[in-house]
Amino acid sequence: MSIQACDVKTSSEAQQVRKYVKMYSRMGGKAYVHSFGCQLNVSDGEKMKGILASLGFTFTESYENADLILLNTCAVRESAEDTVYGTLGNIKKYKKQNPGVILILAGCMASEPKTLDKVRSHYPFVDILFGTSALSQLPKLLLEHYEGKKLAYDMTEYSEEFGADDQIRESTFKASVPIMFGCNNFCTYCIVPYVRGRERSRSAEVIIREVEDLVAKGYKEIMLLGQNVNSYGNDLEGGMSFAQLLRRLNEIPGEFWIRFMSSHPKDATPELLDAILECDKVGKHLHLPVQCGSDTVLKRMNRHYTAEKYLEIVDYLRARSEGFSLSSDIMVGFPDETEAEFEDTLKLVERVKYDNIYTFIYSKRSGTAAAEMEDATPDAQKRVRMERLLTLQRQVATENYRRFIGQTVRVLVEGESKQGEGWLFGKSSAYTIVEFQGDQSLIGTFADVKITDARNWAVSGVLVK
Ligand code: 5AD
Ligand code: SF4
Repeated sequence: MSIQACDVKTSSEAQQVRKYVKMYSRMGGKAYVHSFGCQLNVSDGEKMKGILASLGFTFTESYENADLILLNTCAVRESAEDTVYGTLGNIKKYKKQNPGVILILAGCMASEPKTLDKVRSHYPFVDILFGTSALSQLPKLLLEHYEGKKLAYDMTEYSEEFGADDQIRESTFKASVPIMFGCNNFCTYCIVPYVRGRERSRSAEVIIREVEDLVAKGYKEIMLLGQNVNSYGNDLEGGMSFAQLLRRLNEIPGEFWIRFMSSHPKDATPELLDAILECDKVGKHLHLPVQCGSDTVLKRMNRHYTAEKYLEIVDYLRARSEGFSLSSDIMVGFPDETEAEFEDTLKLVERVKYDNIYTFIYSKRSGTAAAEMEDATPDAQKRVRMERLLTLQRQVATENYRRFIGQTVRVLVEGESKQGEGWLFGKSSAYTIVEFQGDQSLIGTFADVKITDARNWAVSGVLVK
């Protein structure tokens, strides 16, 4: 069953909340919404904004003139949680001076049972707490708060899917579309399956309609989101596979690009790789997190593939599309990672020649299997290993990006570049950052740029038309 924004808006709770918002908002009903973490969380934040707007709120970029502060949190690493608690510490003073301000904690951290205890004991000034699957409960929780409840919370995992109508999107030309929620993989280091629940795929019909609608509205980049989009449809009887969904979306008329995130190597079938290679609207880039290059560590991580299997996918793509762009997540310092195991990661990075890697030092998440593993590797050594990995990647990336020099590539122009006055930046089909000089009116449109220079994180060039 799908709860649509209109159902939430017309509920009796919503009607009552609208009255309270008018009555009690000292700054005219302004809400500050901040999403931490991944793009799925950002997408949830846009939906929360849609609900708040329907309740009479408008938005502000600073919490210091807000009637309502909503922190949409991330729990993937301890550092992400620390950032949230740090932000809460800063907000405490504002809240003390303005006790009528409503403070809401949502997202992945709010889905962890330990957060409820921590909020009760250390952050009693939080008013509302709700988990990732309880978005539609926001009006009900606000009503409970207005009616005097000290801490209104809901951490239930609702199976309903909250529709995207009236989502307040950050960009007018880039849109994300969640195609599935949750994860079944239980990588031993990862908290996500515990906070986002099991895989639930949205119906292909609804996704197709949503993308058609976005394209009709002029969106130029559609980012399909899920923790593991490659297993899209596995939970739907007779449903489309992810490869079939890509091919179907590729048929929608209009000039736009389709991207997706994230993919699990164990589910990257030739059927899917062929769809990526053959669909002209699908970006010629694959974010395929390998995590590490050592088979023994991959086993301890419960990843279900070997380095060799991963390289077979890379070779399949490269054999059919020379210079195909790949990026990855790589984790350093998994419990008891040895020097030899780490060197296997370096070897893999050198062999794959990633355009980009997102690197993380392993962070212990209580409740996961890896949190129980012995770990004798000192933190200082993990940091040195991280430096070695980054140094290698910087060399690899500069060499990689040189392959674009002399080529004219199509770019979706995203904004002004920090290069200097008159410079813009955008991304190519291969997801490469491209900088060039041009007029601001190009932002949100496609442009052709001839590449003249390469650095280790971007290329630059000259506008062709
Ligand atoms: N510690 C460090 N990095 C982690 N990631 C997930 N869990 C952890 C953890 N406990 C990284 C993985 C994943 C990315 C989104 O975050 O590399 O692919
Ligand atoms: Fe976490 Fe693994 Fe699921 Fe990705 S696939 S969300 S790393 S458990």
